Amino acid sequence: MEEIKPEVRQRVEELRQLLQQASYTYYVLDNPIMEDAVYDQLYRELQQLETHYPETITADSPTQRVGEKPATQFPSVRHKIPLYSLENAFNIEELKVWQERWWRHAPSEEQGKQGENSPLTPLYVCELKIDGSALALSYENGVLVRGATRGDGITGEDITPNVRTIRSIPLRLNLENPPPSVEVRGEAFLPLDVFQKINQERSQASEAPFANPRNAAAGTLRQLDPRIVDRRRLDFFAYTLHIPGMDDTSIARTQWEALELLQKMGFRVNPNRKVCTSLPEVAEYYEHWDTERLNLPYMTDGVVVKINSFALQEQLGFTQKFPRWAVALKYAAEEAPTRVENISVNVGRTGALTPLAEMRPVQLAGTTVSRATLHNSDRVAQLDIRIGDTVIVRKAGEIIPEVLRVIPELRPAEAKPFQIPTHCPVCNQPVVRPAGEAVTRCVNASCPAILRGAIEHWVSRDALDINGMGEKLVRQLVDRGLVHSVADLYDLTSERLETLERMGKKSAQKLVQAIAQSKTKPWSRVLYGLGIRHVGSVNAQLLTEQFPTVEKLAEAEPDAIASVYGIGSEIAQSVYQWFRIPANQTLISRLKATGLQLAAEVEAHPTPASKQSFSGKTFVITGTLPTLKRDEAKVLIQKAGGKVTDSVSKKTDYLVVGEEAGSKLEKAEALGIPQLSEAQLLEMLEG
Ligand code: IVH
Repeated sequence: MEEIKPEVRQRVEELRQLLQQASYTYYVLDNPIMEDAVYDQLYRELQQLETHYPETITADSPTQRVGEKPATQFPSVRHKIPLYSLENAFNIEELKVWQERWWRHAPSEEQGKQGENSPLTPLYVCELKIDGSALALSYENGVLVRGATRGDGITGEDITPNVRTIRSIPLRLNLENPPPSVEVRGEAFLPLDVFQKINQERSQASEAPFANPRNAAAGTLRQLDPRIVDRRRLDFFAYTLHIPGMDDTSIARTQWEALELLQKMGFRVNPNRKVCTSLPEVAEYYEHWDTERLNLPYMTDGVVVKINSFALQEQLGFTQKFPRWAVALKYAAEEAPTRVENISVNVGRTGALTPLAEMRPVQLAGTTVSRATLHNSDRVAQLDIRIGDTVIVRKAGEIIPEVLRVIPELRPAEAKPFQIPTHCPVCNQPVVRPAGEAVTRCVNASCPAILRGAIEHWVSRDALDINGMGEKLVRQLVDRGLVHSVADLYDLTSERLETLERMGKKSAQKLVQAIAQSKTKPWSRVLYGLGIRHVGSVNAQLLTEQFPTVEKLAEAEPDAIASVYGIGSEIAQSVYQWFRIPANQTLISRLKATGLQLAAEVEAHPTPASKQSFSGKTFVITGTLPTLKRDEAKVLIQKAGGKVTDSVSKKTDYLVVGEEAGSKLEKAEALGIPQLSEAQLLEMLEG
């Protein structure tokens, strides 16, 4: 074995510290100390040293955040200190009741100090209540050794590989002499934009959207593949610090000091915290954030009021379920009662039968709601919902309303139970429910509902983007038997279209043109348009980057598909199975015959996944290259793991320059971005 020089070890350690500091200032303080490009360069240097000297790799190295191997299950862990939940209060009156209750438990000298500054500390700390999923993080000698879910508060699940992907959770505490054991608790959450994107992707891939960011965060944390967790960009706010013996020392004597210390240690702590000395001050904070919270990039559902002094917290202790020293002051939930007038069934493009509650209209979160999804028959059974029932419905922001629960006391005698039908309500063919699945499906490939859904998806904006194909038109095409598959769209003539209702000569011609136009759309959109389960537009992009032709994808084994970064085994299976169905094979050959793009423009030399030399690098191409077409160059870069964008910014790593380069070159020069000729690019690809 090669002897490692002390200089090497020193440089590795130095790089780790630099990168950790950079990541702290970026993710926690929101105040980056270095350019992305500098970070990337240092990161790459560390990566190269680690590849060369694998013995130097430590678990807390910034390169070791994302594990490669999916877990098969998560071991359970018993929490050393239970994770309590909080008592709720819904208004200031209830908060007063809470305060009076803890007064009764407080030693008399503390009671005398209400309403004024106590000598030790302001009385309360107010924090925002983040709508996410609680995590307990264990550090030994300053290094993250475990991350666990709350579970039932006593036992949770060890999800360390997933926790490690969260960039605002330090792998190593920023402390000179870390105590042997530290436990940090806080809330993992999904920023709202990520939440919305995930739901968009899920509905594009015919999966039920998450009802709220909390479910989405909890679901993400329990994903078995850390690479998928990594893509979801979870974030974390720390709010509790436990260090054995902390109470007897001056490490932190108050919640406020603990929060400050957490931040120093490298955690993200919510900046919207406040010390309050009296209830009116708490009320003001609560009211201020009731409206202000709508401008935050994450979801909050209330305020947590905590007694600041740890000494007083300890004196107050816990009830059976809750700490006496804290309370969740919640905002009015966007929930309301209403009556179920009917339960109908919708058939989606994958044939899934979704029961819908048709309800007496009710005002929720500023909109009128009259339908709510019941997801599937398991959910119907679990709710025990019947026609005639009074139910609580909830709507949060842009999320589909759902039925939270039934109020059994209000059930009329004539309430009618609901059974998922045995036959498709659209085509009347028998439906199936595969063993172990919650979803009942119509499997009749020519069911008009499925066909309509498939066409609507095919023409949608992120797919083939065919303008002028609304829901009504699609219905007519299917009902009149003009279209039996998306391939038939390409045989439509304007003469035939003119026979449809409200279709003039001009619009028929325009539509035929729009359909023909779609033949220029790239392979990734075609793949997305096929509507394969779990293949939303992002996954389609990932897949087509690695499988530049439909043949390559069609013959790929599930393992090869799953080896694409970001593609899990469930997606891989779904793609694999789709191509095994004869009707789908026929569809592909018909689509090919129409001239649709079922391949990226060029086929690049295959690059083994291990040789992703351009990983993390962003390129911009400008001007005409001597031999490569722009798209060819793009594919080559992507195949090596790089990204190609259209405009030059600080984030651009290289500008590839050809003849007659324009303003991009000027901008790159101004920003000092390195330039490459085609020859240099090819050389880099070789090396
Ligand atoms: S303190 C004993 N602080 O709300 C202390 N919890 O309803 C308990 N939560 O399980 C937790 N933001 O998941 C605390 N700033 C915050 C919080 C917070 C969100 C969650 C946490 C807890 C639940 C209780």
